[in-house]
Amino acid sequence: MPTYVITGSNRGIGLEFVRQLTQSPDNTVLALVRNLSKGHSDLKALANEKTHIFECDTSSLASIRDFAKTARSTLGDNKIDYVINNAGINLSSQNSSLQLAPDDLLETIKTNVIGPAKVVEFLLEQGVLSDNVRVQNTSSGLGSIKRTADSEERQCAGYSISKAALNMLSVHLAADLRKVLKGAVVIMMCPGWVKTDMGGESAMLSPEESVSGQLKVLQGLKEEDTGKFYQYSGDQWSW
Ligand SMILES: NC(=O)c1ccc[n+]([C@@H]2O[C@H](COP(=O)([O-])OP(=O)(O)OC[C@H]3O[C@@H](n4cnc5c(N)ncnc54)[C@H](OP(=O)(O)O)[C@@H]3O)[C@@H](O)[C@H]2O)c1
Repeated sequence: MPTYVITGSNRGIGLEFVRQLTQSPDNTVLALVRNLSKGHSDLKALANEKTHIFECDTSSLASIRDFAKTARSTLGDNKIDYVINNAGINLSSQNSSLQLAPDDLLETIKTNVIGPAKVVEFLLEQGVLSDNVRVQNTSSGLGSIKRTADSEERQCAGYSISKAALNMLSVHLAADLRKVLKGAVVIMMCPGWVKTDMGGESAMLSPEESVSGQLKVLQGLKEEDTGKFYQYSGDQWSW
């Protein structure tokens, strides 16, 4: 009877996670959205009696902390088995490293790096993470320094800096979380190039293909896989 937390679950890849996970009556899903006051009709249409839609703005420490407390009061003695840090932004994507927009870069790092770190930290503080929790930090091939160095055309400078930082966070977290939760596994996951608002219409993969691959990897993780940087296909990215 696993319990999943998914950030940024109202559209795109996050919504598809909810769609696939709610198909099994075994799964409890905590589906998080930035702002509960928005309609989120697509997400509500997927919800069953074991789906809880909560607010969690991953750029706000107060919002993440409030969510962690809500998770504790909702779950009681139950624990979270999977944390999917999916929410992400890509601001000023046309700007090169010679044109970084400082405010956008800071906002991107707040959402894409600090947010995932604090989701895990505050849930841990509330004592709601299982001893064998699987944490997936959603990265990108653009977060691979080797891939970027090898490619002729550089893309999305601010975003790729944030995803490289997320990768380093994940490697730290993989070791630090083990000290308190003995079976914890933390991975980075590139979902592939996916047809969403972020990925655009020309992307190669449907959300269905990407998420079914990601779930296969996530659900098959072993303790020795902690700290690895996966693609949705199960292959690994180089750093
Ligand atoms: N699509 C791709 O090709 C691709 C490739 C590589 C990596 N990724 C990564 O995959 C993840 C999902 O991407 P996507 O394609 O589904 O993007 P998307 O269609 O733009 O959706 C982004 C999701 O993140 C949420 N979000 C953004 N900022 C948030 C915040 N401060 N608090 C809470 N939620 C927030 C959005 O909520 P709102 O509706 O409230 O904005 C939305 O639900 C991201 O981490 C992205 O970097 C995507």
